[in-house]
Amino acid sequence: MTTSKVNKITTHVLQEMKLREEKISMLTAYDFSMARIVDSAGIDVILVGDSAANVMAGYKTTLPITLNEMIYHASSVMRAVQRALVVVDLPFGTYQGNSREALLSAIRIMKESNANAVKLEGGKEILESIDRILTAGIPVMGHLGLTPQSINKFGTYVVRATQEDEAQKLMEDARLLADAGCFALVLEKIPATLAAQVTAEIRIPTIGIGAGSKVDGQVLVLHDMLGINHDFSPRFLRRYHNLYDEIKGSVEMYISDVKNLEFPSEREQY
Ligand code: KIV
Repeated sequence: MTTSKVNKITTHVLQEMKLREEKISMLTAYDFSMARIVDSAGIDVILVGDSAANVMAGYKTTLPITLNEMIYHASSVMRAVQRALVVVDLPFGTYQGNSREALLSAIRIMKESNANAVKLEGGKEILESIDRILTAGIPVMGHLGLTPQSINKFGTYVVRATQEDEAQKLMEDARLLADAGCFALVLEKIPATLAAQVTAEIRIPTIGIGAGSKVDGQVLVLHDMLGINHDFSPRFLRRYHNLYDEIKGSVEMYISDVKNLEFPSEREQY
């Protein structure tokens, strides 16, 4: 069966898509209205990303967003979604401490939002947490390469794993995450050749953002691809719209209509 006819995307469907080389589409969403549009358009995976910290809350990094805030976003999304698989980021500070804390954070997300899976940033250093979450029957998506929760360690958002030692570590981490039982792996801002090697080597789907075309799927932040955000334009971003200007234009027209007594008209009142 082709994926467009599938009623509900599961981790198993994504695995089959990799096997038959059908690309996986993934976008972020953080609220009911946007999630409903994205889901009805037929997206395969919706990520309730901690990028909500940037695009919804206006923070400079993803670090400040809390578990309660992620659960609020995720449950809003879940009320809208019928078909897509919904994955939720475990926010910074809710899984790095110890594996028990990681498990409790993942359980809260699953129980309180009804989401389908969680995503964690990192490799070997968080493997124990990943193992424990998986043991509880919670599907885990990995995330390697540029991991924005570690921005204070790296100090910059430049392309990762361009040097041999970092590329080797990334490859080892990808193997570890796949062997542990993660169902998919996000590869962010790494050389396309390395992403292609990882994709060829591991059996789980890879989803790239700034990782070239030879991965099993692509993800973008919804607000970036719709052009709601205009001050973020990395090379990997394709903008499909300029909603910032469109929305601003509509608001300007509304203001002018109100000021000039052109709204409401006779037909728009009782
Ligand atoms: O939080 C997020 O939006 C993400 C994507 C960039 C993959 O992790």
